[in-house]
Amino acid sequence: ETVYLKDYTPFGWQIADVHLTFRLSPTATRVLARIHFAPNPGAPKQDFFLHGEELRLIRAAIDGTEVTPEITDKGLTCAVPDGPFLWEAEVEIAPEANTALEGLYMSNGMYCTQCEAEGFRKITYYPDRPDVMAIFTVRIESDLPVLLSNGNPGDRGAGFAEWHDPWRKPAYLFALVAGDLVAHPDRFRTRSGKDVDLNIWVRPGDEGKCAFGMEALKKSMRWDEEEYGREYDLDVFNIVAVDDFNMGAMENKGLNIFNSSCVLASPETSTDGNFERIEAIIAHEYFHNWTGNRITCRDWFQLCLKEGLTVFRDQQFTADMRSAPVKRIDDVIMLRARQFPEDQGPLAHPVRPESFQEINNFYTATVYEKGAEVIGMLRTLVGAEAYAKALDLYFDRHDGDAATIEDWLRVFEEATGRDLSQFKRWYSQAGTPRVQVDEDWTDGTYSLTVRQHTPPTPGQPDKAPQVIPLAVGLLGPNGDEVVPTRVLEVTEAEQRFEFTGLGARPVPSLNRGFSAPIVLERETSRAERAFLLAHDTDPFNRWDASRELARDSLFEMITKDAAPDGDWLDGLQRLVADTTLDPAYRALMLSGPSQSELAQMLHTRGVTPDPDAIWSAAERLAQATAERFADMLPALAREASVSAAYAPDAEQSGKRALGSAVLSMQTRLDGGYAAEAQFAAADNMTQQLSALTQLIRADRAKAALAAFYEQWQGDRLVMDKWFGLQVGAAAPARAADIAAELTGHDLFDWKNPNRFRAVLGGLAMNHAGFHRADGAGYRLLADWLIRLDDLNPQTAARMCSAFQTWTRYDADRQDLMRAELQRIADKPNLSRDMGEMVGRILS
Ligand code: ARG
Ligand code: ZN
Repeated sequence: ETVYLKDYTPFGWQIADVHLTFRLSPTATRVLARIHFAPNPGAPKQDFFLHGEELRLIRAAIDGTEVTPEITDKGLTCAVPDGPFLWEAEVEIAPEANTALEGLYMSNGMYCTQCEAEGFRKITYYPDRPDVMAIFTVRIESDLPVLLSNGNPGDRGAGFAEWHDPWRKPAYLFALVAGDLVAHPDRFRTRSGKDVDLNIWVRPGDEGKCAFGMEALKKSMRWDEEEYGREYDLDVFNIVAVDDFNMGAMENKGLNIFNSSCVLASPETSTDGNFERIEAIIAHEYFHNWTGNRITCRDWFQLCLKEGLTVFRDQQFTADMRSAPVKRIDDVIMLRARQFPEDQGPLAHPVRPESFQEINNFYTATVYEKGAEVIGMLRTLVGAEAYAKALDLYFDRHDGDAATIEDWLRVFEEATGRDLSQFKRWYSQAGTPRVQVDEDWTDGTYSLTVRQHTPPTPGQPDKAPQVIPLAVGLLGPNGDEVVPTRVLEVTEAEQRFEFTGLGARPVPSLNRGFSAPIVLERETSRAERAFLLAHDTDPFNRWDASRELARDSLFEMITKDAAPDGDWLDGLQRLVADTTLDPAYRALMLSGPSQSELAQMLHTRGVTPDPDAIWSAAERLAQATAERFADMLPALAREASVSAAYAPDAEQSGKRALGSAVLSMQTRLDGGYAAEAQFAAADNMTQQLSALTQLIRADRAKAALAAFYEQWQGDRLVMDKWFGLQVGAAAPARAADIAAELTGHDLFDWKNPNRFRAVLGGLAMNHAGFHRADGAGYRLLADWLIRLDDLNPQTAARMCSAFQTWTRYDADRQDLMRAELQRIADKPNLSRDMGEMVGRILS
């Protein structure tokens, strides 16, 4: 069942071209395939095997003669001629019955596909692996008005449409859409003067929610030309919004398919956060056209080759479109919240995994976000110019290839003359490196001794030292920068770096901009952190100093019932009062560490986390902060107010973020008076939802929830927020009960991944609510995962990760969680997806 990287062998044949005809019908779609195979001279001898799952073979022929292949539930084998031959097959599939949302399926009467990673084998018999690339020609037969596939449009007439994709591609990039759709059209002229027709296709009624996504697409196209020299390569670029979708979006060649939550936007229905995320995802999928499609992956172990790089590119894009420091802080918050627990628990795996049972379980924060960090480190090490040179070489040399991490690193080695063999450990070693820093000040020489070690992870007991680009700056005693940022290259287990010519002992600002995804373990006094909070010129570290102070204060509050750290609150007040700083940045300063982050911190410091104690300490700190800021709130609120018409840009959304932080403090002081006023007056979703959140927290949301429901029950995406917020923001004692009740609501459609995630994912995100001592949260989630497993194993398996931290907690909670995991493991016909996840979590 397990597949290993080391077992890679090329497929025995190459494909010249593929012709597919689809006769669409919900219950009995016929797929006719004509494929020209020719022996692959570079491959070892092997049986002719084609993947195929849940297909009914009607007819197969080789060079026009019918054949009877041997069929299993994984695919077929067949005797074939020694030379080139024409393979023909007709299969029948039932898109309407496809609840896994993988392969060809239906969503609200529209046909659509999701083939990455291994969904194409549910469409026809095929060598469904990324290193088999071919030119596709597709004919769709259906009475539906809009019929789309990859590439450029060809003939079309009553009841049919043809598409031809001139670029060789693997099957996972195949896509087909058919439905009653309307287009939001536009046009883009590439820098070499080619016109491209752009369309965002949506269900009638959603036309008004496309304009923002279209602007984001055009900005992405321009940005990729300017920053990476990459131009678009077809006559059309289509985006389709689909309500039922397992993930965020998919980069199918020329026909991107999006979860509607990741493309549809309007001020009334979307928050500022939604807008920013949509802009980033549109960019991400568009950027895949070069990093993923033109250069794809040899096998699924190389997934980070396209995902890490494309995430890095979309992060650069967002930093350029909006505030770079705010984007960096957001990304690190995400990395620490989602990737660190993965890296430090039973699901730890290298950025390039070496084995898997179900590849869909490896679309993880480690492959994506840590994968992007690895690219960022590489760029830091070689410099922006060399990075650009290496990328040019990569595009030049590997265009049209199915490439590997070795290929990727080789272009950097050749472009820069650097040996990257040690750097490569970032791809093969799982786990987050811990870095200890000790300092010394003698005779005017300041030195840093840096020690690194990475704790063991499953299957990897011993770790070798990694290359850590540690960006460091030094501040003088009165707060000015005496040594501007320089990058120390840490390569040894222990290493010393010296700074000479300093007049006084400096204060170090370490890992500036979070230059490496590590945990810094340095004994630092509160005074020193407060100094950095006041003076650091690196905005990331300034924020991080405050974060550390908050974490320390919460640690003392949780373990010793201490009072909140007043000095830190003083420093925070001074910073937040500084009107020369970006409101978005100040809003970030006001948002404290999440409760799951605190659980992780306690665990790391050898204390068993008590979710209720964490919750109550976080509440006390929030209350103390609100009281401290009370006098400042009116001025901050004035500063946060926006008089211009709503725009989802960085400036306005920064102000609204500050406004939300103010409202949250205000609500702790007035019990919800201001929140009710804001809820009543709001003309945009950002402010409506932030008011509703505060009202839920203040236990004063009954009327507002009803009014919100009245107003938005017809809008699926807004209703996801209504479902999710009630659970996510609920008081811990009630979260599981509210979630259980909502699963009985008429609009709870558990077959829709967005709705399922809103309620059950909302529960998993409510830390103390999920970990309720009687196990009600665990039980409810397990009940629903067991139920969903038969229908949609991929989404069910992803949500299993809510249990990944189970060994951190007390014995009673561990017993409860283990029992639920075991109950899932014992389910009859457990999917491979779930089986692998539960097995790894329990091991
Ligand atoms: N390649 C897509 C993206 O990152 C993700 C699709 C993953 N889908 C899946 N079923 N594993 O943009
Ligand atoms: Zn991607």
